[in-house]
Amino acid sequence: MIYLDNGATTSPKPGNVVNSVCALTRNLSANPGRGGHRLAMKAAELVYNARTTVSDFFSVDDPSRVVFTLNCTTALNIVIKGVLKKGDHVIISGYEHNAVLRPVEKLKERGVTYSVAEVVEGDDDKTLDNFRNCIKQNTRLVVCTHASNVFGIKLPVGRICALCHQYGILTCVDAAQSAGLLPIDLKNSSIDYLCIAGHKGLYGPMGTGALIINCDVIPDSFVEGGTGSNSYDYNQPEILPDRFESGTPNFTGIVGLMKGIEFVKSRGIENIYRKELSLVQNAYERLGSMKNVILYTGYPEFGSYVPVLSFNLADKDSESVGELLSRRFGIAVRAGLHCAPLAHKSKNTLDIGTVRVVPSAFSTQNDINALVSAIFKIK
Ligand code: ALA
Repeated sequence: MIYLDNGATTSPKPGNVVNSVCALTRNLSANPGRGGHRLAMKAAELVYNARTTVSDFFSVDDPSRVVFTLNCTTALNIVIKGVLKKGDHVIISGYEHNAVLRPVEKLKERGVTYSVAEVVEGDDDKTLDNFRNCIKQNTRLVVCTHASNVFGIKLPVGRICALCHQYGILTCVDAAQSAGLLPIDLKNSSIDYLCIAGHKGLYGPMGTGALIINCDVIPDSFVEGGTGSNSYDYNQPEILPDRFESGTPNFTGIVGLMKGIEFVKSRGIENIYRKELSLVQNAYERLGSMKNVILYTGYPEFGSYVPVLSFNLADKDSESVGELLSRRFGIAVRAGLHCAPLAHKSKNTLDIGTVRVVPSAFSTQNDINALVSAIFKIK
């Protein structure tokens, strides 16, 4: 199968990730932080190494600020539900995933209100103005995706977060689609909470993600339970990361994530980004020259987009094109709404969805050639 669904999860995973997960499952199935024996201690040491790998990668001094989660969605829920209280207002962008939209919608029950700031593709000043215009006296938090998982459009999160800090508003960035592709330096940014997926551009296994807390406002605990620490205390520990890491962790996944980051570092994120975006630019130009192919964004320029391309065939519904690509041509893409109805609403594709193509560090020009040729035949 030609795999161009790397926005959902990257595939294949690098050899060092696969080998590490297999070897640990075989040789070190011990519970980190839950025992003093040699195997449990070794497992705890590996989790700590993974934590420092993540903190170094995002330029965070204190590794305890890295909370491992099951995915980016859990990290976002911890922030949104752990920070916002009755009477608070939150701003989200018009490109948010359901991982943000559904929690804020749910919080209406708790008396929290939200506004959606429209993103203006190609005009960061206007996008910034739209965020500014949404600010109210009770705005407590802004949650903003770094890049759209449907259209690849990059948001000016640095400027948005700096603006929020001028107003004393906390900031949370959803880097599900950008971590491993765009540099993120938390030491020199106004991002208070960074939420990442471990299994996309960081090449870890599915079931991995992290919340990085880069400010002094610590959200309420999300799930309470055993942490292996302070076991005499009936209350959830306050210390990080224990406060948010109750229950047995995804040990092999966390170490696999560390290996994934090592893979990204060995290739260089700039190299990976340039390679993938070049493939998307090639697909954009060739699909764009075909009659009946509809593209939804401007040309995906370096620096303004991540390597995610959405398109449609004029007379066909996106799901049927996705199904044909899989069944007749052995090409994996994701079609439909990509769990991001707001983004589709902004481009008027809510009723039809789009066909989404996302390469990875392992994708080749031949993969794009096969896609373009298949679309030509389907068309
Ligand atoms: N959020 C993932 C996607 O965009 C699963 O496909």
